[in-house]
Amino acid sequence: MYSNKIVGPRRGRSFDSMNIGNEEKLLNNEMNKSTFTKIEECRTEKKNAPSDGRAAIVFSLKNEVGGLVKALKLFQENHVNLVHIESRKSRRRNSEFEIFVDCDSDHEQLNEIIQLLRKHVNVVDINPPDNSCLPEEDVENVPWFPKKISDLDKCANRVLMYGSDLYADHPGFKDNVYRRRRKHFADLAMNYRHGDPIPRIEFTEEELATWAVVYRELNKLYPTHACREYLKNLPLLAKHCECREDNIPQLEDVSRFLRERTGFTIRPVAGYLSPRDFLAGLAFRVFHCTQYVRHGSDPLYTPEPDTCHELLGHVPLLAEPSFAQFSQEIGLASLGASDESIQTLATCYFFTVEFGLCKQEGTLTWHIPDVLFFLNPPPPPSPLQHALSGNAVIKPFDPKVTCKQECIITTFQDVYFVSDSFEEAKVKMREFAKTIKRPFTVRYNPYTQSVDVLKDTPSINSVVEELRHDLDIVGDALSRLNKHLGV
Ligand SMILES: [Fe+2]
Repeated sequence: MYSNKIVGPRRGRSFDSMNIGNEEKLLNNEMNKSTFTKIEECRTEKKNAPSDGRAAIVFSLKNEVGGLVKALKLFQENHVNLVHIESRKSRRRNSEFEIFVDCDSDHEQLNEIIQLLRKHVNVVDINPPDNSCLPEEDVENVPWFPKKISDLDKCANRVLMYGSDLYADHPGFKDNVYRRRRKHFADLAMNYRHGDPIPRIEFTEEELATWAVVYRELNKLYPTHACREYLKNLPLLAKHCECREDNIPQLEDVSRFLRERTGFTIRPVAGYLSPRDFLAGLAFRVFHCTQYVRHGSDPLYTPEPDTCHELLGHVPLLAEPSFAQFSQEIGLASLGASDESIQTLATCYFFTVEFGLCKQEGTLTWHIPDVLFFLNPPPPPSPLQHALSGNAVIKPFDPKVTCKQECIITTFQDVYFVSDSFEEAKVKMREFAKTIKRPFTVRYNPYTQSVDVLKDTPSINSVVEELRHDLDIVGDALSRLNKHLGV
């Protein structure tokens, strides 16, 4: 889920103070005053230093005074630039905290810092770098990206938000039964690998009751709030996946249904992914989808995407060929793009897929009507009422303009963007994608479910050969048609 997923604004939260002990909070404050200032100095020093890219390291700390400061000082003393830091309570030992650091380093520095860290802390994981460079046989100085669908296994578990941990402002934060249930769903998603069947869920009575409320309320609003493509596909979801008021569809059935309609498949995910990882899935026509149900205390509001949002919001449109193509093109444009470009693409996704309006028969409707009950408090006023109230600005969707708009995830948007059709939005996005700086372009190969990186004459020639073959087929078809018509 992108939504997870989408704009990933929480990355900027760096230290998650809600998951860290008071003692460590004080340490964080100290570090904000001292270490981070020095980190900026390190950045300056490194301007002319060779850098191979970034690496992500996870290490655990005992809950003791000064442990975190000591560990971070090692980075400072070795001139390793820390780009991003997060903390969480260890899932392995209750008394420990885990620290995730995203650092900018070359291989030599990385090896040194890991050796030093191991003397002081327990290094839990050294992830495949989020932004590491591709191997030499590929394109240099380009952030790592998945080349084949199974590569999503390497990035689908890098959950930024929630997962099995909930923030204090989450409706289920104090509900231990709910939290255990969320852990169960998080474990299922974390253990999932490409090609596995998605585990079937026996939903509880409470989950079914929550789903039923959302289902009923949305069904009242569909006729006036949903776009025509949505309304066309929703009954198919009922027919093929048993999407009913008293039944939550199984993701495995939904995935099979979508594969037959548009080639999209579902991949379960534990929580918010970064925009880069979420968009990468779209490039392979994979939609990262949550399987848990929102907390039952307020069925008409959720601070995060849940399976109600995914199934009643996204899935009907993923069954629409033009929308599927639109989604994949955003995904393909994101592969190997800079962080800045990823943000522009994610913003466009946010204002089209999540909060997009379309004008059909002179009426404004939502691409995804579930936006009514996601992220925004329930009506009145509804987001559509707000959008039409004169308090929000409605602009035509234009990626060059849209990408600069601030995404607001806790209340209504200041601006909404309207398209006449997905086709129109797709053409605009395609043009916009050409402005993204990359030393190559990519082409999806549906036979191998991989992307071809077009970066030199041989790789481009191979595509030309395929196009020639396709044109031959078209020529042959036209010739036979002409004969049949006696032309
Ligand atoms: Fe969403």
